[in-house]
Amino acid sequence: ERMLRTLDEVTSIESPFEIHVGAAHGSVFAGDLGARTRRVYTVMGDTVNLAARLASAAEPGQILVTEEFDDVHIFETTALEAISLKGKSKPVIPYLLGGPIEAADGGVESDLLPLIGRAAELETLTNLVKEAADGSGSIVTVVGAAGLGKTRLLQEVRTEAADTRVIVANCEPYESNTAYFAIGQLVRNALGVHREDEDPPGKLTEILVNADPELAPWVPLVARVAGISMDPTPEVAALDAKFQETKTAEVIGDAMAATLDGTVIAFIDGAQWIDDASQSLLDHMVPTISAQPWVVVESSRVAPEDEDAQTLTLDPLGDEATTALAVAALGDE
Ligand SMILES: Nc1ncnc2c1ncn2[C@@H]1O[C@H](COP(=O)(O)OP(=O)(O)O)[C@@H](O)[C@H]1O
Ligand SMILES: [Mg+2]
Repeated sequence: ERMLRTLDEVTSIESPFEIHVGAAHGSVFAGDLGARTRRVYTVMGDTVNLAARLASAAEPGQILVTEEFDDVHIFETTALEAISLKGKSKPVIPYLLGGPIEAADGGVESDLLPLIGRAAELETLTNLVKEAADGSGSIVTVVGAAGLGKTRLLQEVRTEAADTRVIVANCEPYESNTAYFAIGQLVRNALGVHREDEDPPGKLTEILVNADPELAPWVPLVARVAGISMDPTPEVAALDAKFQETKTAEVIGDAMAATLDGTVIAFIDGAQWIDDASQSLLDHMVPTISAQPWVVVESSRVAPEDEDAQTLTLDPLGDEATTALAVAALGDE
């Protein structure tokens, strides 16, 4: 399901490239392949070949999938004419993926299994949220390999702290050189200012100056982090490059303090790809965050470079928990 949703998002992005997508379901052989000096993570096998052939049969922007996906009932599908594919004896019926099927309650159906294990980790995080609510915030990095349940754990924290505001940023591998890609999302989400808005710099200025008039000269620094283009004020223009970063951290802290209300969890998912500007801004903001009702949670496949950073390492689930998870996953099949 997540794969289909992701593909749906990918093809709806406006891009100068023509995107053709094919998806198949089955076993693949995955691993680091190739000569020792140029080994890359690869998947191989029939399923992969089938997906590749569906992709080449798809029109630009189309997602073609195999019959299995028709049975999942989370997206509309239309059967197309069978096509014979190179290397396949039987013709394959491609299904054209349409829009998502909404669940009866109006929301999109969730595929979350109940959280198995992770009680200690959950408690650590919920305690950090409680401490933040009492005015002492923190930054913590949840570390664990892909699929170990970092995102799932955060979803649970979110459910437990249902009345706590959560703002989310997703880091992407191809955006790790985009300055403020991560924190920019948090700032836009926190302020409710988006780049698609009619007049983003105007809206940003209005919100910040209303919250704290002293922010007026520094709005362009917030705009820069938020990825919103804006002319510098004389104060910003006169700012020595040396002080730019500390001033930006200070202004972001003031802007958030003036506009955010109550306890806030800021979740930076995929932080192994965080851009340097965002990480450095966070580092500068540690003292501010610790005096605010904010918990910043990064999820990362690798431990943070800063050895003093607070981390929470996820180990693979034990045998018992893994079995319980498998049973839960197979539950209604
Ligand atoms: N402890 C757990 N209990 C229930 N489901 C889990 C647990 N850990 C992981 N999962 C499920 O396994 C999949 C991968 O977990 P995810 O949180 O996306 O991993 P990560 O973010 O570390 O890459 C998801 O479908 C998630 O819901
Ligand atoms: Mg994740």
